[in-house]
Amino acid sequence: MRFISGSVVALGLVAPALAFPRPAGVKRGSPNPTRAAAVKAAFQTSWNAYHQYAFPHDDLHPVSNTYDDERNGWGSSAIDGLDTAILMRDSAIVNTILKRVPQIDFTTTANANEGISVFETNIRYIGGMLASYDLLKGPFKSVVKNQTLVDNLLTQAESLANGLKVSFNTTSGVPDPTVYFNPTYRNSGTGNNNVAEIGTLVLEWTHLSDLTGNPLYGQLAQKGESYLLNPTGSPEAWPGLVGTYVSTSNGQFQDSNGSWSALSDSFYEYLIKMYLYDPDTFGEYKDRWVLAADSTIAHLASHPTSRKDLTFLSQYSGQTTSPQSGHLASFAGGNFILGGILLGEQKYIDFGIELTNSYFDTYNQTASGIGPEGFQWVDSANSSSSQPPSSDAGFYNTAGFWVTAPYYILRPETLESIYYSYRITGDSKYQDIAWEAISAILSKCRAGSAYSSLNDVTQANGGGASDDMESFWFAEVLKYAYLIFAEESDVQLQKSNNKFVFNTEAHPFRIRQ
Ligand SMILES: *[C@@H]1O[C@H](CO)[C@@H](O)[C@H](O)[C@H]1NC(C)=O
Ligand SMILES: *[C@@H]1O[C@H](CO)[C@@H](O)[C@H](O)[C@H]1NC(C)=O
Ligand SMILES: *[C@@H]1O[C@H](CO)[C@@H](O)[C@H](O)[C@H]1NC(C)=O
Ligand SMILES: *[C@@H]1O[C@H](CO)[C@@H](O)[C@H](O)[C@H]1NC(C)=O
Ligand SMILES: *[C@@H]1O[C@H](CO)[C@@H](O)[C@H](O)[C@H]1NC(C)=O
Repeated sequence: MRFISGSVVALGLVAPALAFPRPAGVKRGSPNPTRAAAVKAAFQTSWNAYHQYAFPHDDLHPVSNTYDDERNGWGSSAIDGLDTAILMRDSAIVNTILKRVPQIDFTTTANANEGISVFETNIRYIGGMLASYDLLKGPFKSVVKNQTLVDNLLTQAESLANGLKVSFNTTSGVPDPTVYFNPTYRNSGTGNNNVAEIGTLVLEWTHLSDLTGNPLYGQLAQKGESYLLNPTGSPEAWPGLVGTYVSTSNGQFQDSNGSWSALSDSFYEYLIKMYLYDPDTFGEYKDRWVLAADSTIAHLASHPTSRKDLTFLSQYSGQTTSPQSGHLASFAGGNFILGGILLGEQKYIDFGIELTNSYFDTYNQTASGIGPEGFQWVDSANSSSSQPPSSDAGFYNTAGFWVTAPYYILRPETLESIYYSYRITGDSKYQDIAWEAISAILSKCRAGSAYSSLNDVTQANGGGASDDMESFWFAEVLKYAYLIFAEESDVQLQKSNNKFVFNTEAHPFRIRQ
């Protein structure tokens, strides 16, 4: 009840340590049952199609009504979507998934020598099961009667982690990115892993230790993470902004390249989320986040020459920056806002809102109303940065970016940052832009039996369906869109005394008490 966006009275009750100035003329948002129901209906349509044509396999291809098992065939869409169904209080879907959970054999793969991505398996399966467990043991207990079904979630998460932990069996303890369960448990022997894949285990594995009482999981993940917190080898580009690849044999950085996008993104995200999980234990993580955040504001924030009002985040190679970004990086706005809330620092909140508004521009300016996978701009601080191709010059003049990768694979990050912006400001403007974004997605991605990835967001119709519905559609897009319009609950972001922290796949974990 600390942050009720619909109530002016409640908005006055901000924690005394934090002062959030409220610009005059802001229209207060409030829960919107009609829009929440529309998002829930899209979830049900997607689930019904997946259930009919793909369950219990991983992903539905909604145009051909076929399926794939690209996440090792353990039913990634069902496990990833479970907590969204819980938050939506759809008991029928929840029970269908819960009955499946104990039947999944997480100790092996169907095929011998089938590679298992430690990162993807962790964020989707372990994350999905732990969050569902927390919700069903806590604020959403009434959704399920049978507690045995709920207990199975933790048993299965632990069973899966017991296989995945072979990844830490490297000389340094930096996890191997890929493991095998069949015919024997082994890692791939890959010499390097990237900071996103190394640094996006620690929240899930620490929480698994807390829930099971077995400290091993947290210890393994924190040991791997220790090399990222105390970097050696190739130097940081700026304080806190580390390179990308780390040796699994000695834990040294191999390069000084990075970004807030693929291969790095959720490493930074988890630094501040560990501090939310337990500020007493993870102060060092917070200190590293602050360094990275300040260096990002000082060195990576970039304004396009044609739209100096926008702020995007450049990539870096040492201290050379390059004005390129993409859909993945648009989570950064939300992460800065979270840091600002936890640290009582308005500058991070302001910067996060600036990023949210700017990355939403990549939705607002395309013909489809959906943001592209990749884009570029001319950095107003670097007169030698590359100009747009002549065919894109007109678009760049208005939009402030041009598209370098036009596809959309049902990614969530822009809606995620809009969620944080809405929760911190209470401004209905963010509900409205969320509605613009999700409406464009629901109309342009609707294809076959459900919703599909698109080929080209620069075309009004999205350029045709590419026939894939990734599990993060269930886990993230529909969850963040729903929460922006849903009632208050314990999982919703608050300005203080938060009870939950979302993993990078939008799975909410109860924070350490
Ligand atoms: C609860 O679920 C378990 C596991 O599926 C099942 O064996 C048991 O009969 C169920 N209990 C009730 C009361 O339905
Ligand atoms: C760890 O790796 C070593 C050498 O690569 C191997 O001999 C050992 O069996 C592995 N241990 C486990 C538990 O997989
Ligand atoms: C670092 O970035 C530079 C410039 O983009 C590139 O040439 C180099 O290959 C990158 N190094 C690694 C290890 O990726
Ligand atoms: C400016 O852009 C040029 C061309 O991309 C690049 O070579 C140069 O290193 C950039 N300068 C900085 C300071 O990043
Ligand atoms: C979207 O862009 C149009 C102009 O292209 C602008 O008028 C409008 O304010 C923008 N909407 C948002 C929500 O930024």
